[in-house]
Amino acid sequence: MKFIVDQQVEDIELPENLKLNTFLQEFHSDCRHPECNFGFYGFAFGQSPFPVPRVIQDALIKNAHKGGYAAVPGIPDLRNAISKYNKHYFQMDIDPKRIYVGPGTKELIFNLLEILHGTVILPTPAWLGYLPQIRFLKKNYHMLPARANKKISPSDLRKLALRLHDRQKILILNNPNNPTGLLYDQLELEEIADVCREQSITVISDEIYAQLTFDFTKFVSMGKIYPEGTFVTNGLSKSHAAGGYRLGYVVFPQHAVDLKIQFKKILATEYTAVSTPIQYAAIPGFEISDEMNEYFEITRNIHRIMGEYTYNEITKIEGIKATKPEATFYLLADFNLYAPELQNAKITTSQRLSESLIVHPYHTAIVGGDSLVLERTDFSARIAYVDYDGAKVYQNYKDQKPKTYSDKMEFAKNNAPKITAGVKMISKFFEKIKQDSTINLKTKKNSLSVPS
Ligand SMILES: Cc1ncc(COP(=O)(O)O)c(C=O)c1O
Repeated sequence: MKFIVDQQVEDIELPENLKLNTFLQEFHSDCRHPECNFGFYGFAFGQSPFPVPRVIQDALIKNAHKGGYAAVPGIPDLRNAISKYNKHYFQMDIDPKRIYVGPGTKELIFNLLEILHGTVILPTPAWLGYLPQIRFLKKNYHMLPARANKKISPSDLRKLALRLHDRQKILILNNPNNPTGLLYDQLELEEIADVCREQSITVISDEIYAQLTFDFTKFVSMGKIYPEGTFVTNGLSKSHAAGGYRLGYVVFPQHAVDLKIQFKKILATEYTAVSTPIQYAAIPGFEISDEMNEYFEITRNIHRIMGEYTYNEITKIEGIKATKPEATFYLLADFNLYAPELQNAKITTSQRLSESLIVHPYHTAIVGGDSLVLERTDFSARIAYVDYDGAKVYQNYKDQKPKTYSDKMEFAKNNAPKITAGVKMISKFFEKIKQDSTINLKTKKNSLSVPS
């Protein structure tokens, strides 16, 4: 029996997260060196290493018997809890009726792109999840490259919007940002919002890392600044270390009544509702409690320590620059100063760079620039600093909270040996690239000076 796949599916590339998995598995199984058994230094996967909060696990067990379908937009108790959560942590007054629950923000963003007509504006570098969705839906799109500070500029946004003649433009803003780990502050958001108002740009504000803002008082939601035109998405995946639960939510803009009816149609058509026990389990995760407050504080502080440590270590390597993360568990490393040496080693694209780092003796997994919607020849890479035993590190932090800066760096060094070793591997790799390039150059010079 031969099955014929729909052309629309044939036409899309493998989404980057699948590509990444396949790529790591292939390299791992091809490696014959005994050291390959241990796997690799994992800077590639964007997953929180901490245990799912106890209150969520308990609620899941308690509600396992609930086998009935849930209401399409989410169960009322969960929507109420999400509304209160937004009020408490993000100072947003949101009527629970504006909240729709779905199986992860990835799916909800896809659903929003399904119902919203228009051209998508995608700031780059970008999370690897957006582009395959935009392509799958055959939407028009334009990249909006970040400036040297790795943030988009309002004037670039205005210029681009003026060139687009679609009836509607949709900006996908990801704040705090994956892959840079940077945060747009209130003033920057206000300037972007001014352009959005002026140019009638709708915003999908992906705020999945909001709770992981290191100085939490600095986080401001775009939903607060531009409430009439922003869809805010967030969920359990990063802040509650529960990506596998598949639960996210979207907050609709104020007064978007008609749109909500259309959205409900899409949800009901595609997945009916999120699994009922998972919705019940999520309620205590969004309720305001001492347990959750402590969990957010500890996990946020550990991410901050690991971020500072990784940033310090990686920027100690000669010629390597990086964004200094203010949130999330990523930073963007810039290896472009090594471009001539990499070219000499026949590493001409960011994909080749990721491949060269994963093989023996380096065993180091990164996400290259091509997966971040950058030019293929841009040697930037996303470094996730989560390769440690989250449960153990959480407990260690609770038992003895590091206070001074040097305590914190010591804490990271002791608790995340794979991060230390992985950065050393990156350093070793670039040393070798530099050495080989110098030898190459000398050989070339010598061969030129040999009389014919
Ligand atoms: C920026 C960003 N948005 C969305 C997601 C997906 O989140 P969810 O698990 O809620 O689908 C991720 C996960 O890596 C992400 O990094």
